[in-house]
Amino acid sequence: MTNQRTILIVEDSPSLAMTAQAHLEPLGHTVLIVGDGKAAWEALNSRPIDCVLLDLKLPDMDGITILEELRTRPAPPAVIVITANASLTTAVRAVRSGAFDYLVKPFAPARLITTVEIALNSTSLRREVETLRRTVERAEFGDFIGRSIPMQGVYRIIEAAAQSTASVFITGESGTGKELAAEALHRSSNRKARPLVVLNCGAIPRDLLESTIFGHVRGAFTGATADQEGAAARSDGGTLFLDELGEMDIQLQTKLLRFIQTGTYQRVGDPAMRRADIRFIAAPNRDPAEAIRDGRLREDLFYRLNVVPIRMPPLRERGEDIVLIARRFLKQFAEAENKPFTGFAPEVEARFLAYAWPGNVRQLQNVVRNVVVLHTGQIATLDMLPPLEGGVVAQREAQAASLAPVTPLPADAEAIIPLAAMERRYIERAIEACGGNLQDAARRLGISPSTIYRKKEGWAKSDGS
Ligand SMILES: Nc1ncnc2c1ncn2[C@@H]1O[C@H](COP(=O)(O)OP(=O)(O)OP(=O)(O)O)[C@@H](O)[C@H]1O
Ligand SMILES: [Mg+2]
Repeated sequence: MTNQRTILIVEDSPSLAMTAQAHLEPLGHTVLIVGDGKAAWEALNSRPIDCVLLDLKLPDMDGITILEELRTRPAPPAVIVITANASLTTAVRAVRSGAFDYLVKPFAPARLITTVEIALNSTSLRREVETLRRTVERAEFGDFIGRSIPMQGVYRIIEAAAQSTASVFITGESGTGKELAAEALHRSSNRKARPLVVLNCGAIPRDLLESTIFGHVRGAFTGATADQEGAAARSDGGTLFLDELGEMDIQLQTKLLRFIQTGTYQRVGDPAMRRADIRFIAAPNRDPAEAIRDGRLREDLFYRLNVVPIRMPPLRERGEDIVLIARRFLKQFAEAENKPFTGFAPEVEARFLAYAWPGNVRQLQNVVRNVVVLHTGQIATLDMLPPLEGGVVAQREAQAASLAPVTPLPADAEAIIPLAAMERRYIERAIEACGGNLQDAARRLGISPSTIYRKKEGWAKSDGS
């Protein structure tokens, strides 16, 4: 952690704010100034802040409101309240609401500097403790079950991203829990009181998608017999999850991009601009890099949505989680179906652990449901399992092949291959090794994602010719 901290001054008197800034900046801190509560929220929601100097009397709200909300956050900044009168009640009220300390106007520079430094030190200590506590693995998070290392990573990203409005892009094989991740994200955010609207772009007829998202007015098209609001209005203040994004046609993607950038949209058939404050989450239905290359996904839309990427690991990479999840499903289905099942035979759990689970958690869910519905007993045994396709051996072989060296270093002149071919094999293998996550591969390769897109375009052309 660096020593450079960010301090936010929320103060409607510019001269006081600027004097404080002039004293704090020489200590090496970044000092931001805002003049009202609304701007304070914007700053607090868009970047990490370590300390807030908060005037209790703001033109648009009571500073205490800000203080109280901040206190509910997982790693809140230290708040130092600025008050105009030294009345004990004000100070007590502020400290009760979670303020670290208070300053009475006018205050001496030395007092300001000491108070801020102590507050900063105490926050960083508290945050360290919290980080330590949080790195202790969790076996559950939201509706997720799993304590594997890849899932701990997912939990941490969800938690870290929850409070911001940054768009989140969730990738992962089918059935890995992308929708569950969207739900967890929404429920960990301060938008949880407002709806999470889930739109599966692949399941809605293309010509209805625009009105489903933006709404329409009566007479906008045949069948539009009444005004109808869309997902944008319903998820105002909340979260909109756009699933199977690649199925959206390109014109509508342009409108969506504008909506994300400006926060404004138009209902179909209505010239009026409307506003909505929405957190966007998207999931592609296939490799976004490929979709961009084929001209089916706007690259700028992708970048706008891919601010926080979350990659859901395939179930086969989660080790013992497979068993934990299977046991939970067994319990749930047994209760629902009124069956006496209490556990799996050890061979069943071993089989689960060795299997590749191409359909991931959803497939595991179906397998367990199948066992519970069709059989009875206390212990679920091997003979109760439905056939598991895509055998274990096949999976191990595929894994071994993908771990083989990309290209051996040439031992003699005959073994030399063109650099371009070598590069292509290396990049393709890198993307594979990152589970298809091109962003991740690019980062590890030390090049930009757009370089990979460009190269892929080139390869596609040479493959075609
Ligand atoms: N870690 C987990 N623990 C418990 N249940 C899970 C877990 N992950 C997923 N599930 C369950 O598995 C099912 C599939 O999850 P979900 O629908 O979120 O996957 P998805 O990635 O969106 O799938 P698809 O790609 O098919 O849309 C759901 O019933 C979900 O509740
Ligand atoms: Mg889904």
